[in-house]
Amino acid sequence: MPTLNIGLTDEQRYGVIEILNRTLSDLYLLNVKTKKYHWDVVGPQFMTLHELWQEQYETLTESIDATAERIRALGGYPVGTAKGFLELATIKEHPNDLPLATEMVARLAQDHEQIIRNLRQDIDRCSEEFHDEGTMDFLTGLMEQHEEMAWMLRSFIEGEQVHSSGDRPGQETKPTIKA
Ligand SMILES: [Fe+2]
Repeated sequence: MPTLNIGLTDEQRYGVIEILNRTLSDLYLLNVKTKKYHWDVVGPQFMTLHELWQEQYETLTESIDATAERIRALGGYPVGTAKGFLELATIKEHPNDLPLATEMVARLAQDHEQIIRNLRQDIDRCSEEFHDEGTMDFLTGLMEQHEEMAWMLRSFIEGEQVHSSGDRPGQETKPTIKA
């Protein structure tokens, strides 16, 4: 990696580049998973979910590009192979599996929440360990996007439970609070 004179040591840059590459890998996998469910979903909520997931994978596509370009701005190189993404990502794929629509929503909500938890730790490390406020700010923006996407997915499942109890066995039905 080239030497940059931007007030960060090489060790600090390598540290944040590693965080950004892992984030990039998670976003890539989640992009693939979101597209797959956008294609596969069936049922009465088809159009809603098909469109919601299109919106979400478009957001993810923009975030992927921004993350890769931030890695370049810090003098690093983004991971750019499917194998590399799989090695670094923390979220899991579910191959050869076609779940119900509500299960698809639940899985994606869990993935977004996993990414939010990772980012929260990463933001702390960027601040305390690497003193890189730029990456901290960037990751905070990403985390807020995932919080919003996770909220939309969770809201969808909560709405579903009212109409189709028994759709997800073992799941406790929470009381509906009307504002
Ligand atoms: Fe499409």
